[in-house]
Amino acid sequence: MKYIYENFKVQAATPTIGAYVQDLDLTQPHSPALYEELRRALSDHKVLFFRNQNMSDDRFLELGHSFGKLEVHEFFPCPENKPEIQIITTNGGRTGTDRWHTDVTFRPNPSAASILRAKDIPADGGGDTMWLCTNAAYNALSDPLKTMLNKLTAVHDMRLGMTGYLDPAVVEKNARENPPLEHPAVIAHPITGKPHLFVNSIWTSGFRDLPLEESKMLLDFLNDHIKRPEFQVRLRWDVDTIAIWDNIATQHYALGDYEYKRVMNRMIVDGVAPKAFLAA
Ligand code: SIN
Repeated sequence: MKYIYENFKVQAATPTIGAYVQDLDLTQPHSPALYEELRRALSDHKVLFFRNQNMSDDRFLELGHSFGKLEVHEFFPCPENKPEIQIITTNGGRTGTDRWHTDVTFRPNPSAASILRAKDIPADGGGDTMWLCTNAAYNALSDPLKTMLNKLTAVHDMRLGMTGYLDPAVVEKNARENPPLEHPAVIAHPITGKPHLFVNSIWTSGFRDLPLEESKMLLDFLNDHIKRPEFQVRLRWDVDTIAIWDNIATQHYALGDYEYKRVMNRMIVDGVAPKAFLAA
């Protein structure tokens, strides 16, 4: 289905999540009105894909800044004098992001959005990324379960997601700086107000007010429930493909099915503290 926007065309990838933005050259400067329309398209589709955007780092930064304040990340290399752009190089296998997750939910203010550009991609395919819509996942639950989840608070723990993937000393240091914290299990999206399931398999360790067995059972169920293909979209990357996703409205999964250097440039847009969804 085609949605009509003034400054570009948008082709939905699925009825639920994902859209290709067409007739838009991001290598050129654009007006605030165009970027505002892009933000609306992101709200509508949760993840936007752009093909063939061979842009300069300056233009890439302009795109990032149009979505909000950009995070400066100390862990990743960056182009000279551009600490907001992270250069992420992987070689396939278990990268740690080959698990369904929302980024950095162990922080009080998880990121609002991420922008990823493919710079070097496996020659024979592989290294796709998948996203799912956490509003669709919530809506598909039964009313009694929704009612229960609306009242629950989930615990998010950085140590859970990093153990086994990073050096134990690094995990300890990071975990000390980011102690476990709580977010509502169902949050109201800060822009749309819609309910989104806000637990994920990397960072969520359980539910605050449930006994351990019930907490584990419910979390296992939800982490399985979100995997329904109807909630998902999958992108095959090419060099200079860009994806922008709403981190709060989605989870993503980076496939590790390649043995080749994969280089991406990423920018992360700062977010706000998630608020509970209050059902009418
Ligand atoms: C991520 O989890 O931010 C990485 C996504 C990707 O590399 O495709």
